[in-house]
Amino acid sequence: MQLSAALAAQVDRVRRLDPDQLATIEHAASLVPGIVAELDLAGFVSPLVEDDKPRFLLRFSSPADSVLKIYGDAPRGEGPLLTEWRRSGIPTPRLIHGELGGCSWLLLEYVRMAPVTPDLRLTDQLASWGAVMHRRSPAVAATLRPLAATMLPRWQLAAHRLRSLGHRVPAHWAELAEQAYTAGDAVPLHGDLAAANLGLTSDGVVLFDASALAGPREFDAARWCARLARHGPDPERALRRMAALEPEFDLGIGVDLLAVESVLEAGSLATAADPRPDVMAQLLTLANRILP
Ligand SMILES: Nc1ncnc2c1ncn2[C@@H]1O[C@H](COP(=O)(O)OP(=O)(O)OP(=O)(O)O)[C@@H](O)[C@H]1O
Ligand SMILES: [Mg+2]
Repeated sequence: MQLSAALAAQVDRVRRLDPDQLATIEHAASLVPGIVAELDLAGFVSPLVEDDKPRFLLRFSSPADSVLKIYGDAPRGEGPLLTEWRRSGIPTPRLIHGELGGCSWLLLEYVRMAPVTPDLRLTDQLASWGAVMHRRSPAVAATLRPLAATMLPRWQLAAHRLRSLGHRVPAHWAELAEQAYTAGDAVPLHGDLAAANLGLTSDGVVLFDASALAGPREFDAARWCARLARHGPDPERALRRMAALEPEFDLGIGVDLLAVESVLEAGSLATAADPRPDVMAQLLTLANRILP
């Protein structure tokens, strides 16, 4: 496939499926030739994903097997944060990053990886990285987006979807969600700690795709544990294990965030290809038990 055809195809999917983001993906597309020239990239292989998100993920074979990720919106902290983590020993892909035309780009090594198994062993491993991942860093602080501003619109959407299906999601829970997302001190967060953003390589597990948010350190664990429910482990039990393994983890904040994230996850399951009503019910029971 030609690079120009891959760009046009992604722009076309966004135009059809998420037209509000059309200007963003068109702007990203306009930046690709300049970045490709600046980085001396050649041998376009293929897009890594063919979806309707307003960013590109493009694989090139030269000068090395690599992935160019370009967003069309405001600069993000993904590059700086992953770089900082890698420097501190968290396994992330090698990368360089920069900005052009008011947008972020990352050039990552292409990593051959298999899906991870989201179980309690992996949960413990992630928890053991928490102290480093969540370390305050002046180098990245300015690039992080506030957790509440990013999550609340998604939470509201999930709550609306659940109510329309007849589930109990009281209106005042939105305030509890905001309180939970703004509790404690704001530290760097992955923001989307989930199996889809981890891979298994011959050297072990690798972490990527940081949303690079600023919020309470307990959030990454809460999100991970809420999503773990669909794979079997009990979310609250998993959260308590993570709390015990990460210094400065406040279990009270963590449990509140788990309840809030359980609503979000139940809302996501409602539109998933495999909706899992049993897991949805489990997550909503947990939320109703914890949220007043
Ligand atoms: N460096 C890489 N090497 C190999 N495959 C990759 C690499 N980066 C991403 N991928 C593949 O592309 C998929 C999507 O990448 P990624 O998670 O970074 O972005 P996303 O979730 O689609 O986008 P967004 O940043 O908008 O959330 C990954 O799940 C993985 O399969
Ligand atoms: Mg991802």
